[in-house]
Amino acid sequence: MKQYAIKGGNPLVGDVEIAGAKNAALPILAAAAMTDETVYIDNIPDVRDINVMLDTMRNIGVAVKRTGRHSVMLNGGNITNLTVDDESCKKIRGSYYLLGAFLGKYKYAEVVLPGGCDIGCRGIDQHLKGFRALGAEVVIEHGLIKARAERLRGSHIYMDKVSVGATINIMIAATLAEGMTIIENSAKEPHVVDVANFLNSCGANVRGAGTDVIRIRGVAKLHGGEYTIIPDQIEAGTFMFAAAVTKGDVTVKNVIPKHLESITAKLLEIGCEVEEADDCVRVVSSKPLMHTQVRTLPYPGFPTDMQPQMTVALALARGTSIVTESIFENRFKYVDELVRMGADIKVEGGDTAIIDGVARYTGASITVPDLRAGAALVIAALTAEGFTMVDGIQYIERGYEDFYIKLQNLGAQIELVETEKDYQKFRLKVG
Ligand code: UD1
Repeated sequence: MKQYAIKGGNPLVGDVEIAGAKNAALPILAAAAMTDETVYIDNIPDVRDINVMLDTMRNIGVAVKRTGRHSVMLNGGNITNLTVDDESCKKIRGSYYLLGAFLGKYKYAEVVLPGGCDIGCRGIDQHLKGFRALGAEVVIEHGLIKARAERLRGSHIYMDKVSVGATINIMIAATLAEGMTIIENSAKEPHVVDVANFLNSCGANVRGAGTDVIRIRGVAKLHGGEYTIIPDQIEAGTFMFAAAVTKGDVTVKNVIPKHLESITAKLLEIGCEVEEADDCVRVVSSKPLMHTQVRTLPYPGFPTDMQPQMTVALALARGTSIVTESIFENRFKYVDELVRMGADIKVEGGDTAIIDGVARYTGASITVPDLRAGAALVIAALTAEGFTMVDGIQYIERGYEDFYIKLQNLGAQIELVETEKDYQKFRLKVG
């Protein structure tokens, strides 16, 4: 079984290059199948969720050619199957973007109910509400979401909840609907803007992405093109917090600093120095970390996908901190593992963590419950006294490209081990 073996104690120092944004790439790949012409996409991350998505698209007849580790050529001119239900795509959340893409293009689609990380009930009612408002009949049968429309007509849709996925899915479908669609109370995340920019580069007419009202004037068809995905804001934030927690000095490269403002603000608040340049940020952590309060919110608020990394930092900060999770209802499952490493954290009401800072973590055998918590637990292990074995790293591989290699390059003592012999070799190496 693959695990990470980690010996804590080294501050992370150096430069790290950030990959393309997984959560932008997933819907952009789906939307690329809406044209019969060829689309070239660059800066896709080489992570498991993206590779599952590409396999799923290949299985239904999309021509997919990896032109490089981070680039792909797609052609959706010969799609043979509008039922997307292979086993692997059940595990990723992004597969449901094929519903919006195919409903727009073919007025028909069947896609398996989505999976993704187990961080609480993850409704899809807003997606369905949006498709229905565009004129589709939508039913859930035998584990599939089935959507069909005679014609898709633009509509005025008010989202009851700010949802990244629903905003993007409805925006994608509405691109090929007749007339104007207005999505109110839309999500404003950078990847919503990236998907809109991609659609526009293929001939769509989407305005207002990045604000809470998006206007989409439907067009008859999309054309091919070339597009480069934005950098991954959460991967960047994860390395910024890794620098903070390990008392390091890390320059995080290939980022858009504007997308990182809420993360930077919290790092400054807890006592780190952050320097911004055009496409990189440097985080230096030389003083004791200070306590604070954080509430996760839709963008531009503090991202829920950074909540575990923040908690890992605050558990080592002086004083009492409070972290409130307002997006997902079950996102503190990793706290039990952190407590096993010596943290003093109580979760109240499922959504609030009360954290009394401790002086240090101690290494333990831990299990990763989901993607972002996995990265956060690894960061904790990097600063823990002694050795930590991390189980369940397949979650981390879903969304972080070369995670342990990038950490090694920053001076971390971390190794991927599969056997007891590998582990003993690692122990001998790091002493
Ligand atoms: C996406 C990201 C995820 C991130 C989240 C919030 C992907 C693949 N995943 O997830 O990493 O944590 O945004 O930034 O892009 N909700 C409903 N009904 C709906 C849709 C959502 O009730 O129809 C609820 C969800 O249960 C959740 C909240 O709205 O409580 C936000 O969800 P949403 O923004 O849709 O997250 P995802 O798109 O699933």
